[in-house]
Amino acid sequence: MKLAICPDATAARTVAARVIARQIRKNPASVLGLATGRTMEAIYRLLARDHAENNLDFAGVTTFNLDEYVGLPGTHNQSYRYYMQTHLFDHVNVTPAKTHVPDGAATDPDAEAHAYDTSIAASGGIDLQLLGLGENGHIGFNEPLSALTSRTRVVTLDRATLEQNAGMFGGNPEKVPARALTMGTGTILEARETLLVVTGAAKAGILARVVEGPLSALVPGSALQLHAHCLLVLDEAAASALTQRDITDWQMKHDPELVALLDPVHT
Ligand code: GLP
Repeated sequence: MKLAICPDATAARTVAARVIARQIRKNPASVLGLATGRTMEAIYRLLARDHAENNLDFAGVTTFNLDEYVGLPGTHNQSYRYYMQTHLFDHVNVTPAKTHVPDGAATDPDAEAHAYDTSIAASGGIDLQLLGLGENGHIGFNEPLSALTSRTRVVTLDRATLEQNAGMFGGNPEKVPARALTMGTGTILEARETLLVVTGAAKAGILARVVEGPLSALVPGSALQLHAHCLLVLDEAAASALTQRDITDWQMKHDPELVALLDPVHT
């Protein structure tokens, strides 16, 4: 794991957007794994701005989103397909047929899940997978106790997730769909690079368990300890419960990739 700890959330979002833009410029035919959630909104705004101002070219990019609520069609304003359209896809020149979000309205969600993994493999695999972290340690919708080898599948959402996401459903956890389709933890680990973005003090405790805690199905994000190319972009608030700052601070001063990413001259 490499940790880029930024002074604040604004800087963290800038660095995360820079990593994604760097990938697209390096390989205009990149396959990106994308995430939803509040953390990602500003990152997508920055990418849209990069497209508008510097011609960041999405035309050849293929995308696979992590997850979708079962039962919500892509036209529903709380579906993750709708989220992606409104926060990113409608603002860049991505090719619609190259964007993939699991179909929450599929008549056979299990078949949809299986087909999704097949489609990722057929695309050549994900080059860079963007991830957020749930307050219960989930990545995608891989809730606590998800197998670390799990594949894309239908899951039952944890109560903590229903509560965390209730804000988007009028504040009522009972309005949040109880099931979702999610890329599996094992599927996520197959991405060639992973980028986990975490901001805010509310996630400091769980983030410390992801980075320092035992590898455990109880904390699905801890599976990233197994990933050979995993970059964490954090703000100081999210990093505040880490106990090994001497190690991370040393790396931020001496690892050329981290030095370049954190260089304020380029933010
Ligand atoms: C949802 C998504 C996760 C995301 C999480 C964090 O639950 N399924 O992939 O990581 O939200 O959301 P936020 O950034 O709003 O805290």
